[in-house]
Amino acid sequence: MDNFRWECRTKVRFGTGCVREYLEELVKEYAPAGSNIMIGLGGGSAKKNGAYDDVMGVLGSMGYSPDARSDGAKGRVVEFSGIMPNPTLAKMLEGAKLARENNVGLIIAVGGGSVMDCCKAVSAQTRYDGDAWEDFWMQGKPMRHSIIPCGVVVTMPATGSEVNGCAVLTNEETRIKCDRDYPEMNPVFALMDPGYTLSMPIRQMRAGTFDILSHIMETYFSFPVEGNPADDVSEGLMKGLIRDFRAALSSPQDLQARSNIMWTASLAENRIIKTGKSKDFQAHNMEHQLSAYTGCNHGEGLAALHPVYYRHIYKAGLPKFVSFARNVWGLTDEDAIRYKESSGADMSDDEALALAGIEALADLIQEAGLPTRLRELGFGEEEKKILPEIAASCSISSGALRPVDTAEILEIYEECW
Ligand code: NZQ
Ligand code: ZN
Repeated sequence: MDNFRWECRTKVRFGTGCVREYLEELVKEYAPAGSNIMIGLGGGSAKKNGAYDDVMGVLGSMGYSPDARSDGAKGRVVEFSGIMPNPTLAKMLEGAKLARENNVGLIIAVGGGSVMDCCKAVSAQTRYDGDAWEDFWMQGKPMRHSIIPCGVVVTMPATGSEVNGCAVLTNEETRIKCDRDYPEMNPVFALMDPGYTLSMPIRQMRAGTFDILSHIMETYFSFPVEGNPADDVSEGLMKGLIRDFRAALSSPQDLQARSNIMWTASLAENRIIKTGKSKDFQAHNMEHQLSAYTGCNHGEGLAALHPVYYRHIYKAGLPKFVSFARNVWGLTDEDAIRYKESSGADMSDDEALALAGIEALADLIQEAGLPTRLRELGFGEEEKKILPEIAASCSISSGALRPVDTAEILEIYEECW
């Protein structure tokens, strides 16, 4: 396996009522005296699922208020709302300006990945004299300045942004959607109450859960392909996630399943399964650019891309695809024989088993009601015309089992159409 460094500084407090129980002590630890607190919000869901009320209740009881300072008040709560799905650079700059003008010393993001990512990026930009997008997102320079601590209250499990330093922003002018991962941007705390997630529309639940599976697969299907501890953990996480996904699809209010999914999202992205792995994330690169051009939903885009991408590259990591079929889907030699017979193609037993595993993944996507084609994401003739441009804008992963090039990305998009 590759050499690695592993660290995760985020303090996690998980479970029903965790905001009411732990937010006060975390605010005391991270909000500098005399500073104000900024709350980052999306389009309003946090005000309906209880998260906003819980946060404001705790802050109010500590003496923070949205009004101007009065005697005895600790500080103000400044709201930064309207963070959109797939947050833009412009929105992040708006937040940084607000934080600077209001002497913000702690940011609390209340929402899903978009709200968390935007707030993490605000925390990096606010006290930076230069252009954070250019220096960090585009050029990946070391981050040496002091950044505002950012804590998160998760309302939607998917990205794992709560436990890592990654933040994804879209520059609408250049049409580049870019992720950057700096340990400095790891949230200082993550409060995870699964009850907040019950209000997610089923479509978001499906997309978010598939994103989690994608994060695990993108890591698992990379080097080394021989057995290793990180992949052993990944196989367990994938099996469990598929079980919990099915449970949540048949009973959306199943709190046990939703709790499991929420914690799996964090385990998938707290970097533990990435230790010693080359990490692919080519499907993410292809999806990010689809999203940069069309604004499509992240998890849904991934669902349409994954099986086709894997049919392209599986031969380069055959042992891993065989393990996936056996250990995650429980397929056997008989399944390989059946697959070979039904396809009528000439292939080795291992290839047949690997393809049967990819087929099982495609079946799950269909069973869950996720999009299996780009057309189902609402793409029409306009989008079809610009597929070559989108393909040309994709980054090529250096951790892939086999790097694809622009021509092959276009082929994949077209096969997904
Ligand atoms: O905006 P609000 O009103 O909050 O509604 C959101 C949004 O419309 C809604 N939602 C969230 N929690 C809810 C809820 N609705 C009802 N009840 C709740 N409890 O769900 C919608 C989608 O939210 P969003 O935050 O956009 O979803 P997600 O968590 O999937 O985040 C997607 C963004 O994260 C990036 C994606 O590219 C995309 O920009 N990613 C971030 C990563 C990271 N930081 O590590 C990695 C990922 O691979 C991904 O690229
Ligand atoms: Zn993702």
